[in-house]
Amino acid sequence: MIWMTGRMMLVVAGFSLIMAGAAMPTITPSPQFGEPLPDLTPSELDRFTQGKVVFSREFTPETGLGPFFNNVSCAKCHEQPVVGGAGAFGEDDVDTERHAAAGEQPTCDELEAAGGPVFRQQTTGPDLPSIPGFADVRVGIRATPALFGFGLIEAIPDWAILANQGRAGGRAATLADGKLGRFGRKATDSDLLTFIRGAFDKEQGVLVPNELSTADLALTVDFVRFLAPPPVRAVDRYGEQMFYATGCATCHVPTFITRSRIAALDRKIVYIYSDLLLHDMGEALADLCKGVATRAEFRTEPLMGLRNRTRFLHDGRALSLESAILQHGGQGTAAAAAFLNLFYRDRYALLRYLKSL
Ligand code: HEC
Ligand code: HEC
Repeated sequence: MIWMTGRMMLVVAGFSLIMAGAAMPTITPSPQFGEPLPDLTPSELDRFTQGKVVFSREFTPETGLGPFFNNVSCAKCHEQPVVGGAGAFGEDDVDTERHAAAGEQPTCDELEAAGGPVFRQQTTGPDLPSIPGFADVRVGIRATPALFGFGLIEAIPDWAILANQGRAGGRAATLADGKLGRFGRKATDSDLLTFIRGAFDKEQGVLVPNELSTADLALTVDFVRFLAPPPVRAVDRYGEQMFYATGCATCHVPTFITRSRIAALDRKIVYIYSDLLLHDMGEALADLCKGVATRAEFRTEPLMGLRNRTRFLHDGRALSLESAILQHGGQGTAAAAAFLNLFYRDRYALLRYLKSL
């Protein structure tokens, strides 16, 4: 049975009121993938548009690319179904990252002296640094996530994240500077500016401010910050009940309310389906330590925009939703078992629900 979400019902209720002749504020349909948030000011909209150009700029050795890099622009990896989206698999260009680190917390070695933790896969000429062969070096692949609605994720207050600590063993990624890590699959960065400055360096070998101006960096950040979340869809209410009943919502917390000085990002409901906490996911998913996370810890992956994804988990190893769920180990073991124990009908309702996110 397909029911509408509360938000859609309001919109429909609004339409019928208009048809009944009542005075109603104009209703803006939800933006599509790749479109900006509604309610941006003209200057914010202008920064979104200019930022998209920098996000799509293809660097060359003359404009700062390399010497080591993964791909020539942000948009070459964040590309599906539109600019700002997820990576593609099976293309001939590089859409994933190769990470390596040695040891384990609290003395995780991110191999910076050897060129880590992101070992780039392309070069403009000089030999690529190779991953050192010490016995305790671990390598991990990272699939490219979609960035729709990420400004709303940035605007979730710290206290709201901290309030869920301990649920299914989740812990906040408190960084050396006291801030909370929330970006990156190991929750290494607290804000988009820091993450994106790093992305220009690690992905394109482009250094700010020498090879890219701080103004262009800020525009790129605003493009990501102002990208609208996926358009709201009708969800399967019965499947939603299964999502709660099997314990998925304990970690994949469906919503938060934002606070921001930017009106378009303030007091919005963000349908994120993540607690933004680190969870121990067991030995089979464990790869490398990074930031404050151990090998086995990952930030709960937001399920926002799941309808577009074709490969799942941090390295894209799961080819189906069922496989992604059944590979939840460690603190996710009980939920995976509950999923497996569902009656056929209930399991399919849950999968239908997931495909509408
Ligand atoms: C080679 C492909 C590639 C390129 C080029 C690339 N990215 Fe990414 N991006 C990734 C991968 C892989 C991750 C996941 C990394 C991780 O979790 O450690 C990621 C993660 C992100 C995130 C955080 C997502 C999250 O889930 O928290 C942001 C923001 C981001 N990228 C923005 C950018 C911007 C801006 C650029 C251009 C400067 C860029 N990326 C270039 C592959 C790429
Ligand atoms: C203990 C916390 C926890 C619970 C409970 C949990 N998850 Fe997860 N989930 C995670 C973490 C952490 C990841 C990221 C793992 C990785 O990338 O290797 C994840 C990843 C996923 C992914 C892959 C998303 C992507 O785009 O790669 C899906 C799908 C998913 N979970 C669905 C579910 C469902 C459905 C349930 C309930 C049956 C559930 N999860 C229960 C923590 C949890």
